[in-house]
Amino acid sequence: MIASLFGLARPFLHALDAETAHQLTIRSLSLMPALPAAPDPAALAVEAFGRRVPNPVGLAAGFDKQCEVPDQLLGLGFGFVECGGVVPRPQPGNPRPRVFRLAGDGAIINRFGLNSDGLEAVRARLARRRDRGGIVGVNIGANKDAADRAADYAACVEGLAGLVAFLTVNVSSPNTPGLRDLQGEAFLDDLLARCIDARDRAAAGGGERTAILLKIAPDLGLDALDAIAATALRRGIDGLIVSNTTVARPDTLAERAAAAEAGGLSGRPLFAPSTQLLAQAYQRVGPAIALVGVGGIESGATAWAKVRAGATLLQLYTALVFKGPGLVSEIKRDLARELAQAGLASLKEAVGRDATAIAAGRI
Ligand SMILES: Cc1cc2nc3c(=O)[nH]c(=O)nc-3n(C[C@H](O)[C@H](O)[C@H](O)COP(=O)(O)O)c2cc1C
Repeated sequence: MIASLFGLARPFLHALDAETAHQLTIRSLSLMPALPAAPDPAALAVEAFGRRVPNPVGLAAGFDKQCEVPDQLLGLGFGFVECGGVVPRPQPGNPRPRVFRLAGDGAIINRFGLNSDGLEAVRARLARRRDRGGIVGVNIGANKDAADRAADYAACVEGLAGLVAFLTVNVSSPNTPGLRDLQGEAFLDDLLARCIDARDRAAAGGGERTAILLKIAPDLGLDALDAIAATALRRGIDGLIVSNTTVARPDTLAERAAAAEAGGLSGRPLFAPSTQLLAQAYQRVGPAIALVGVGGIESGATAWAKVRAGATLLQLYTALVFKGPGLVSEIKRDLARELAQAGLASLKEAVGRDATAIAAGRI
């Protein structure tokens, strides 16, 4: 029903500036009742960070930046929803326009720069839904002008732990100057230690156990990936999200004018590099750390490839803009069919089965 409503509205929304269309979408969702989604087939359930996730298809960070509609989004059939990015103090982000559709490429470029209502506002919204169930997490970052960036992440963890299922340490947004430098080993080690410490301190106050995930950029060399994998394993984080948007601009992009905009590129052109990096990450941390595959998922086939590359969980954003929310059930149906065809009882059995080939660039 919601899927067909959005199908009707899409031509109208796409005639508008991308950010205005998105604001209208969030407003419309906020006016809808948060009805539970239909139950998923048992074969699609996965275990990740100590929880049973009803299906692996999640909504990526950046769609519900201010944590306004997580329950309506779960109602669309997502197995889990990541809200945010959130930073401690409210900040406006970059000037508009800051998001561009590349329809011919199935892609988006954004340079929002972590526009956020700030931790207190988001915390209050999440506190109001705390007993509703459903797997909701928050993507966290540092204020642009933070003096101590690690302290900003720790403040977000302290403020939100116990309220949500997971928190994602986002060191990979290309739109906050210097943020991706935080992926360097010494800083990352200290950052993760402080986040885990903040989580454990907050846990003493009760509430649900909050997993700590790390989200990385697709533009990393293998040396950097080695260091991140070693740090993630040493600190015992619960998950690694691969990947954020890319600063690369492949020659294949058809929409040359929009491609010249600064920012992070997502969608179809990100699929191959992010899936290769996912497989390379699986070779280093799987199956000890759950991997979340994100970047260019737009069909059952692309979702299935991420699973074979090593993803236990999946996320998408850009394809939702072009294809609408009916895509979620389409992907779930196709994954269930792939499992049946492969004679597998659960998704877990398929995770990473083609990681070697995909890591070598043979997708
Ligand atoms: C408009 C927009 C805003 C985003 N904001 C965030 C964000 O705040 N934090 C983050 O970690 N990723 C953010 N992302 C990245 C997505 O979560 C995801 O990693 C990326 O878009 C690749 O997935 P996709 O190809 O399915 O879109 C954003 C993406 C888009 C398109």
